[in-house]
Amino acid sequence: MPYQYSTPPGEKCGLGKLVQTTSIPRFFIVPRDDIIGAFYTNLRLLRQYNSVRKKMTDPFTTVASLEALKTSKLLCVKPAGLRIALAYVDGKVFAVDDSCSHEDAALSKGSLHGECIKCPLHGSRFDLNNGAALDEPAEDPIKTYPVQVEGDDIRVML
Ligand code: FES
Repeated sequence: MPYQYSTPPGEKCGLGKLVQTTSIPRFFIVPRDDIIGAFYTNLRLLRQYNSVRKKMTDPFTTVASLEALKTSKLLCVKPAGLRIALAYVDGKVFAVDDSCSHEDAALSKGSLHGECIKCPLHGSRFDLNNGAALDEPAEDPIKTYPVQVEGDDIRVML
């Protein structure tokens, strides 16, 4: 006759309850609910840990495809709440803040002049290599980002 063996109330067994299901004494372990919960909690924490570890070891983020940038030459991307202008000049990819340091004009709507980007609003040019403002009215530089190209992926260090 089947019967069930369980741990006394208030006492926790590390492995679970022992259950006999047939008249032949065969025992197996039934995981307790709290153990299952702990397993999924640990799995979630492990995934979070791995994603943070990946970010720490790989600071580059894929932001666009090289093919799309080759077509448009200038592209605005918005990774992690930032606004970045990507530029494609003579096989090189540049990433700079998509915001003019004079006023908040989108540089990705401007134009390329060699390795410079020209603001569409008042015409200041910025060096894509170091972000330096080359013409007035802008005086402050814009931020530049290190770029990696892997296959068709453009990866930017944010
Ligand atoms: S907003 Fe870019 S130069 Fe004025």
